[in-house]
Amino acid sequence: MAKVKPKNNVEIKKMEAAGKLAAETLDMIAEHVKPGVSTEELNTLCHNFIVERGGIPAPLNYRGFPKSVCTSKNEVICHGIPSEEDILADGDIVNIDVTAIVDGFHGDTSRMFFVGNVSKERQQLVKDTYDAMMLGINTVRSGSMLSDIGKAIQEFAEAKGYGVVRDYCGHGIGRIFHEQPMVLHYDPKDPRLDMRLRKGMTFTIEPMINVGTYDGITLDDDWTVITADGKDSAQFEHTIVVTDTGCEILTKSPKGLDCPPYSA
Ligand code: MF3
Ligand code: CO
Ligand code: CO
Repeated sequence: MAKVKPKNNVEIKKMEAAGKLAAETLDMIAEHVKPGVSTEELNTLCHNFIVERGGIPAPLNYRGFPKSVCTSKNEVICHGIPSEEDILADGDIVNIDVTAIVDGFHGDTSRMFFVGNVSKERQQLVKDTYDAMMLGINTVRSGSMLSDIGKAIQEFAEAKGYGVVRDYCGHGIGRIFHEQPMVLHYDPKDPRLDMRLRKGMTFTIEPMINVGTYDGITLDDDWTVITADGKDSAQFEHTIVVTDTGCEILTKSPKGLDCPPYSA
């Protein structure tokens, strides 16, 4: 795999600031996610929150993406585009994916949110997806293999009958939004895609887990990816930095709102 340069301490401090702002944005939005709200309103709230704190929402105009966050509901795997016409309804599950740039560095994180009363099945998918992400994160330390992440996620998710999305992956992150390495959430059994992790490497882990097939279809808007079988999909994402003994999660929720239900 291409060489991946670890960040120095100054760079990691900046990654911490970016990760914190992204996480705070998701903390802020939690109470606004309810039936009747449009994803456009959620987009505007996130956009303003980031800009008011001196950040830049990275998705806006990124490769032509038209909004400041991604909002991916129910059967949408990822890259859902916020819209006034997209109104949250009781029982929906929605992923909000925030990437903030602070002082030139990116922090990228997403969480699922429950809209009103959500079925047991959907709640279970969301919990399992969070657990899958954390199992991947917990493999990471200086000296561990990149592929350990995907192995842990795939083993857990497939044992429960889920499909692990292949077409989108986690990614190195820093001054550049998406850089090396590619962080697969399954094991491609290809040594060319593997590498030994080193202290200071920064990347995301962001598994997309489907109730049915892992295959997706991109809609005519050229962004929105839905499951090929129309079944539900969920995703969580953290940005992390590798340390000697494990990793530091740069996008942890300051309010402890990492996984729903957020008010019990
Ligand atoms: N935040 C997404 C990720 O996790 C990327 C969104 S790209 C966009 O990598 F253009 F759709 F915003
Ligand atoms: Co990402
Ligand atoms: Co993201």
